[in-house]
Amino acid sequence: MATIIDGNAVASAIRDDLGAAIGTLGDEGVTPGLATVLVGDDPASETYVNMKQRDCEEVGLNGIHVDLPGDASPEELYDAIEDLNADPAVHGYLVQDPVPEQIDYREVIRRIDPAKDVDGFHPENVGRLVAGDARFKPCTPHGIQKLLAAYDVETEGADVTIVGRSDIVGKPMANLLLQKSHDGNATVTVCHSRTEDLAAKTRRADIVIAACGVTELIDGSMIGEGATVIDVGISRVEDDSEKGYELVGDVEFESAKEVAGAITPVPGGVGPMTRAMLLYNTVSAASLQES
Ligand code: GUN
Repeated sequence: MATIIDGNAVASAIRDDLGAAIGTLGDEGVTPGLATVLVGDDPASETYVNMKQRDCEEVGLNGIHVDLPGDASPEELYDAIEDLNADPAVHGYLVQDPVPEQIDYREVIRRIDPAKDVDGFHPENVGRLVAGDARFKPCTPHGIQKLLAAYDVETEGADVTIVGRSDIVGKPMANLLLQKSHDGNATVTVCHSRTEDLAAKTRRADIVIAACGVTELIDGSMIGEGATVIDVGISRVEDDSEKGYELVGDVEFESAKEVAGAITPVPGGVGPMTRAMLLYNTVSAASLQES
């Protein structure tokens, strides 16, 4: 039976450490500010943004929320972005993705001040990450590095198979793990929907990172004995429980935990880490801007 990796516990420890840094900034009269921008009323996005705001409150960050209607024009959003770029109380912010179809998310990202881009999505920050000089590491991959470190899972020399090539998880994860650093130095394989014989690539890996958004794509037969399994997926699958749904990852947990050495649950694995690293990046943005 695998060790169950407790993302809530590791995230909580990171938030405690942040508390000390926030206290030091507070002594200098600085409260790190994180703004969230939501365009429209997508229920999942509303939930995520509310959680980010609640996190701010809990750790003592100044949480600011900007709500725009679903029919907002691109110019209205660009105006809001300009205001946030200019606001000294806002050290970091993000525009929740997805945005309505009249808005081009890439253009939105380009307009964010890279020094306040705590998601790490701006092309300048992506370039810096690839060059090994990251300003902000994207929250989910950074959180995964912290989880691996907390459970003493060595990446140096490890074979890591990432399933998924998204701009927010798969690609930055691959770049971070390739870097010449104590939490990098891995041999990385990135798989995607056109990969042939996916099972062969996951089975040979010391660490499997599933981030493809396909519910329970990876089962125990695709995991090598003793491997570490990190499940980034989170989908709602309807059931007859009180809530009406269950949260399910990209990994079939029940069969995978029988072969893996360690595995993240869904929920309670990667999700809390992503949220903690957003707070981390905001505190780091505030320190950089105020120094
Ligand atoms: N939508 C889903 N995940 C994210 C994220 O990490 N950042 C933003 N801005 N939008 C998202």
